[in-house]
Amino acid sequence: MTMGNTLSESNLEVLIDATRIASRIRELGEQISNDYRARTPHLVGVLMGAWVFMADLIRNLSIEVTVDFLGIQSYLGGTTSSGEVKITKDLDASIAGRDVLVVEDILDTGRTYQYLQGVLAAHQPNSVKLVALLDKTARRVVPVQADYVGFPIPDVFVVGYGLDYNQQFRRLPEVRILDNMKHL
Ligand code: IMP
Ligand code: MG
Repeated sequence: MTMGNTLSESNLEVLIDATRIASRIRELGEQISNDYRARTPHLVGVLMGAWVFMADLIRNLSIEVTVDFLGIQSYLGGTTSSGEVKITKDLDASIAGRDVLVVEDILDTGRTYQYLQGVLAAHQPNSVKLVALLDKTARRVVPVQADYVGFPIPDVFVVGYGLDYNQQFRRLPEVRILDNMKHL
């Protein structure tokens, strides 16, 4: 799989292709539009991984939304969670009284979202829900769950569609498996 220090995507098995991603996001868009009808949810994308998903998700919504981003660093390189979560970009707009829908690329141990729930609750939103494109349920170490899940996936490290390995592979239009030998 490795050639010196470079990894090539042609060696990485496709887990979810672009067509399946697009059709699942259409379904999520319909479901979210229906659940939030007559409301204007405030979508909070968790950087960096979630922005590709969020860009496609909002174009599949039939309700008005407002958006913001929160920068979070939970992986300081590599594929193993440090357990440490750090805010690298704060919210720009107030979420007081808002129906916040957090947009995540992937729910893994759950530590990031658990931490976020505390941070967001302190600003008195009306509600907080989570939509995660991917969910590695087998990896959960804290009891949190997503309200909307694109795809449950097995315990493999994935890249593409916004998800990276040391900033590599975000540009891939599909989700590929970087490592199926558990976490490095
Ligand atoms: P958690 O705090 O363990 O739930 O981690 C969530 C964050 O870890 C995600 O938002 C991703 O940024 C990152 N992450 C977890 N698993 C993967 C993966 O398989 N590929 C890329 N990033 C991942
Ligand atoms: Mg992330």
